[in-house]
Amino acid sequence: MSRLIYVLNGPNLNLLGKRQPEIYGSETLADVEAECRRVASEHDLEISFHQSNREYEIIEWIHEARETAVGIVINPAAFTHTSVAILDALNMCEFPIIEVHISNIHKREAFRHHSYVSGVASGVIAGFGTQGYPFAIHRLARLIDGAAR
Ligand code: DQA
Repeated sequence: MSRLIYVLNGPNLNLLGKRQPEIYGSETLADVEAECRRVASEHDLEISFHQSNREYEIIEWIHEARETAVGIVINPAAFTHTSVAILDALNMCEFPIIEVHISNIHKREAFRHHSYVSGVASGVIAGFGTQGYPFAIHRLARLIDGAAR
């Protein structure tokens, strides 16, 4: 059985480390990827890690994951609050999905309080900084291995 998970990142996360560090911290996306790979290997999981500023690319990776993977960690960034298309793509996946936000979206502007993705996610992590990603992978591993509800 596949041990592949996708870690997907939406728009502007390529500038992590430079982008509003008072909100998103000083780690880069490469730092996040390295930490995700380290934690995934503890669980014997492989990672396909991506970022895009284009909605269609994220949708295509979700379609790919649907065929090949056993779970998704996704930070859809601004698409969280706008994208029915990403929700529709995730709705076709039969494995656990964990939604991650670096910042606490509920403490911020009202337009960030609604997420289209939360309705399909097994769990949501927000406001733990980039640490949210390794937390999400630990949780996904549990869900994949059927050890937790
Ligand atoms: C974000 C929160 C979103 O509201 C924002 O548009 C982002 C990043 C986060 O990780 O905190 O780009 O998803």
